[in-house]
Amino acid sequence: MLKIENLHASVEDKAILRGINLEVKPGEVHAIMGPNGSGKSTLSSVIAGKEEYDVTEGSIIFNDEDIEDLAAEERAHKGIFLSFQYPVEIPGVSVTNFMKTAINETRKAQGLEEMPAKDMLKLIREKSELLEIDRKFLSRSLNEGFSGGEKKRNEIFQMAMLEPKLAILDETDSGLDIDALRIVANGVNKLKNKDNAVVVITHYQRLLDYIVPDFVHVLYNGRIVKSGGKELAHELEEKGYDWIKEEVNA
Ligand SMILES: Nc1ncnc2c1ncn2[C@@H]1O[C@H](COP(=O)(O)OP(=O)(O)OP(=O)(O)O)[C@@H](O)[C@H]1O
Ligand SMILES: [Mg+2]
Repeated sequence: MLKIENLHASVEDKAILRGINLEVKPGEVHAIMGPNGSGKSTLSSVIAGKEEYDVTEGSIIFNDEDIEDLAAEERAHKGIFLSFQYPVEIPGVSVTNFMKTAINETRKAQGLEEMPAKDMLKLIREKSELLEIDRKFLSRSLNEGFSGGEKKRNEIFQMAMLEPKLAILDETDSGLDIDALRIVANGVNKLKNKDNAVVVITHYQRLLDYIVPDFVHVLYNGRIVKSGGKELAHELEEKGYDWIKEEVNA
């Protein structure tokens, strides 16, 4: 599904990603961990196609297509979803209306008609129940005055509605209380199937108790320096990153 080869990327001429290799197959859950500033959010932004990042070397192949020249919007329409570490506020646009627009834009890009209002309502009801989202919440302005946890839950709601092929969740756990974390993780698990894939970026092993990864990667200094199974996350929780830094610098 996703194949990243020797990816180098920079921002304002500062090299941040320095040779990333990563393959994600349908049905898989990958976790990316690593110290602050190692390039995790940059990697997700580059995959999603945010403009401020320049790919200087390497390639990103999504479903057998090189997506380098596609705008962020086109990548989203092809099924790449990125949750934001710091979501934006859009005053005056409700959660529901934002979703309706997003869904219909995707459908338009795929040559489909707008979703009939009845189906849209049904979908909204179904997905908000799945994520235990309150009705009142759906009519609020997008992200305006949302608590950290509400923002995160809203992101997962967006994901649930859009049903992406590849979802990249950047620090979905930050700011969630333990109940919200469980709801969000359960939502992700329920949406998971053999045809889609999830990349979870997290600092804490705790989230991975709920969303169990097939692979865990450690990003350090713009490179994936270690990969393993879910036990690697436990090892990191226990030992921190110093031993990995030592291994790399040896
Ligand atoms: N738009 C930008 N402009 C300038 N520097 C940037 C930009 N985006 C990222 N960087 C720099 O790139 C490096 C990697 O940042 P990134 O946000 O990818 O790290 P991260 O691994 O997600 O860290 P954290 O765990 O703190 O979220 C940092 O030194 C950061 O300051
Ligand atoms: Mg980050």
